Amino acid sequence: MHKSFPIISCLSSLIINRIMTICVRHSYNTNDYNACYRKREYLTSFEEKCIAQFLSVINNPTPKILDVGCGSGKPYDQFLLSKNCQLVGVDISKKQIELARLNAPSAKYININFLRYNTSEKFDGVIMLYSLFHVSREYHRSFLEKIYSMLNDGGKVLLNVRKEDNLLKFRHDFCGKSMFWSHYDYKTFKKILRETGFKFEFLGDEKNSGSSESHVWLLLHKKN
Ligand SMILES: C[S@@+](CC[C@H](N)C(=O)[O-])C[C@H]1O[C@@H](n2cnc3c(N)ncnc32)[C@H](O)[C@@H]1O
Repeated sequence: MHKSFPIISCLSSLIINRIMTICVRHSYNTNDYNACYRKREYLTSFEEKCIAQFLSVINNPTPKILDVGCGSGKPYDQFLLSKNCQLVGVDISKKQIELARLNAPSAKYININFLRYNTSEKFDGVIMLYSLFHVSREYHRSFLEKIYSMLNDGGKVLLNVRKEDNLLKFRHDFCGKSMFWSHYDYKTFKKILRETGFKFEFLGDEKNSGSSESHVWLLLHKKN
């Protein structure tokens, strides 16, 4: 947009990301997301199939899994714990982390912006479900690079994304509060995945299994 003014472009990305971060954190601290979307403790058959595929390619019966943007831990972390995973969840919202500690007490939860999370711990797998699109898309590459660096060799990632191009979408009434989304079109996102070093497999689009929304689920492989 500002090809001849890289400083302006950089500043506008920083400002957009800052505004999004503040809004998203506030929203998940105060909105009705859990009552609207996360009451259930079970997985849909589509979700169960995707998670089973993710676990089946991890070569460890008690894998260490990181959940990025874990929310309340319900239902995904609860399911992973029931499958003998050792779980660490990271979320920017204090309320979501408090709920997760109640819903999945044997996991370890950290209330922090994932981009600021520093650890020497390595993981066999990472899940990032319905969370990347709440981060300004200029930072999606940084998210993926960070995840890549936190994985053991051959580590796996299960994530879902939207396919359409969206520089910045705003709704004032998402579960009763304001909310932002930002994402690249699918082709650009796949290019970023390749450049980060991931191989990837398409697992399915939840729309084709009865969901009213369309999120594409992908399985990523870190090269050995
Ligand atoms: C739509 S919710 C999904 C929660 C959970 N993954 C699930 O599917 O139940 C998105 C979550 O991502 C979290 N999130 C957004 N940006 C984040 C960031 N930069 N670092 C950590 N968590 C973030 C939000 O606080 C929120 O809990």
